[in-house]
Amino acid sequence: MSGTAEIRSGIHWVGARHPELQVFDELFPTRNGTTYNAYLVRGERQTALIETVKAPFTASFLQKLEDLGVQHIDWVVINHTEPDHTGALGTLLERHPEATVVCTRQGENFLRQLFNREMRTRVVADGEQIDLGGRTLQFFLAPYLHWPDTMFTWLPEEKILFSCDAFGAHFCGEGLFDDEVPDFSGEFAFYFDNIMRPFKDKVREAVAKVVDLPIELVCPSHGPLLRRDPRGAIAAYQRWSAPPPPAATPRVLLLTLSPHGNTRDMAAHVRQGLESHGLEVLERAIITVEGSELRDLLEQTDALIVATPTINRDAPPPVWQTLSLLSSVTPKGKTAAVFGSYGWSGEAVKMVEERLLGLKYKLATPGIHFRFAPTDEDRQACREFGDRIAAALLPAA
Ligand code: FEO
Repeated sequence: MSGTAEIRSGIHWVGARHPELQVFDELFPTRNGTTYNAYLVRGERQTALIETVKAPFTASFLQKLEDLGVQHIDWVVINHTEPDHTGALGTLLERHPEATVVCTRQGENFLRQLFNREMRTRVVADGEQIDLGGRTLQFFLAPYLHWPDTMFTWLPEEKILFSCDAFGAHFCGEGLFDDEVPDFSGEFAFYFDNIMRPFKDKVREAVAKVVDLPIELVCPSHGPLLRRDPRGAIAAYQRWSAPPPPAATPRVLLLTLSPHGNTRDMAAHVRQGLESHGLEVLERAIITVEGSELRDLLEQTDALIVATPTINRDAPPPVWQTLSLLSSVTPKGKTAAVFGSYGWSGEAVKMVEERLLGLKYKLATPGIHFRFAPTDEDRQACREFGDRIAAALLPAA
């Protein structure tokens, strides 16, 4: 598929294909490239463009509009200001100075700072509509899917939801629609996990605004257009963003790294302290926990305890790799503690504490560390360390 594509009478896909892309935004691997979807919607009186494309595709994007005979654009709807959506906006507005940009208040702020130039904007409120003549654009604010600026655009006459990044996938097939390309359910789930998952509560709020609409077609900003089972895609987001079931007692995630067994020896006694208060402890060796399991565990537990040795005056790379994933979820609890064994310097505990504080965790108690193998006294201190963490998690007696 190349060029433009009419998806309904007077509604065209005018986006860009990027099948050879291997890493999106230098962050996310893409096995099948991606697309930057943009849409032209013509009403009886007015024309709207929904989003633009990434900057390197500006020339072909403008050519598509020319090929469709577009001479006047009334509105450029920017559901989200990230440059993969707005890369062509500056040049487009030079070509079409008559156009007004439609966005959220936060989107307007971001555009000002992304482009450092004036542009005519119309800031829309939740539920506000623009009448194109026989076709209506209605806007639903959907903040933090996945930036503060994001919104959905609903076209009720055609039952189309232009959903921005939500319900998207980094996948570039030969066809435009989901029933014209091979299975991309893995990419669809990967996209949620990596882009939307940190904002599950916001996903729930946004999906609630559109779930009862009679949607026939979801047009996301990346990947295939969803017409085979649009409700199934929405149901998947509902399922994936559901809060974890409440646990009867607080649960603690205890992650350990222990090259010589000393840190894990300490962990056994910290665990005893925690369990003596009825807390449930989920203990995992860091090197055995995959990213997706770690995210699940963080969402299911009320506190995170990191047990790390010090090697070469630092926490070892697997510990940092694990810490790098913490910002990709909204943990159930933000209570933490750190401990570990060391040989001759012992900086790791303090370094990991500082990282956790930077991520807005609260330390239940200051970290402890002991040199090489813990003594019986050290083990008692570990149990008391567990007591203090339990005290921070349990309601005061
Ligand atoms: Fe498709 Fe958030 O950029």
